Amino acid sequence: SRQQAKRVVGNWKMHGRLAENAALLQSVAQGAATLQGGVQVGVCVPSPYLAQAQTLLSGTRVGYGVQDVSAYTHGAYTGEVAAEMAVEFGATLAIVGHSERRAYHRESAEVVAAKTQRALHARLTPIVCIGETLEEREAGTTEQVIGAQLDAVLAVLSVAESARIVVAYEPVWAIGTGRSATAEQAQEVHAFLRGRLAAKGAAVADVPLLYGGSVKPENAEELFRQKDIDGGLIGGASLKSTDFLAICEAAQ
Ligand code: G3P
Repeated sequence: SRQQAKRVVGNWKMHGRLAENAALLQSVAQGAATLQGGVQVGVCVPSPYLAQAQTLLSGTRVGYGVQDVSAYTHGAYTGEVAAEMAVEFGATLAIVGHSERRAYHRESAEVVAAKTQRALHARLTPIVCIGETLEEREAGTTEQVIGAQLDAVLAVLSVAESARIVVAYEPVWAIGTGRSATAEQAQEVHAFLRGRLAAKGAAVADVPLLYGGSVKPENAEELFRQKDIDGGLIGGASLKSTDFLAICEAAQ
C-alpha cells in the first residue's frame, strides 16, 4: 500500500573494485543504520563481489543482490550465473530486465519473464525493470510499451508469485542522462502500472513500484512523495555513499 516503507536499491552496474567497494559498503551500512522509518536499503553488485557484500553487509540493514540471473538453474550455459548461486552468498535481490540487458544483450520479454520466474523460485526478490525509449514516448506509445513489458512477466506468474515481485519503472531516456522524469511524469506512469498490477489480482496491487533514472539527492524527495512511487533504483548516485545515503534519507 502507499503506507509501506520505501525501498532504495543501488544498481552499481559494471563498476567497482575490491578496495573501493569495501569503503562504499562500509559507509552505506553505517549510514543506513541510523535511518528512521523502516526504509529498506539494498545494493546490486557485480556477481564476483557477492562474497565481499556478504562479508561486509551480513548483520547490517542493507540487503544485496545481483543485476541479472540466468533463466536456467544449471547446465551448459557458459558465462551465466544462476539465482541459486547468488542465494548461496546470502543475496535476496535480483534485478531482471534492465534496459541495458534488453538493448545490449537482446533480452526479449519472454526471457525477462523466465528470469523473473527463476529468481522467485530461488526465493530472490526480482526487481523487474521496464521502460520506454524517447522515440516511444514521443510517439505516444509509453503505456503500450511498458504495459506489454509488464504483462509478459505477469503472464507466467501466479497471483501469489506476482505479489512477490518489485517493479522498477526506468524510462530509458532518463537513465544516466542526468535528465530525470519529472515527479508528475513518473507518477502518471506509476498510476497506470498500479492499475495494471491490480488487474492481475487484489494482492498484486501493492507490489512496490520503484522509479529509476537520474535519481539524485536533489530530486529524490519530490519523486518519493508521489502516491505510487514506493522508492527508487539508483545507478550513478549509488556509487557515492554520501549521495546514496542522502537519497535513502529522502525515503524516510
Ligand atoms: O538501474 C538504475 C539505473 O538504470 C538508473 O541509472 O545512473 O540514471 O541513476 P542512473
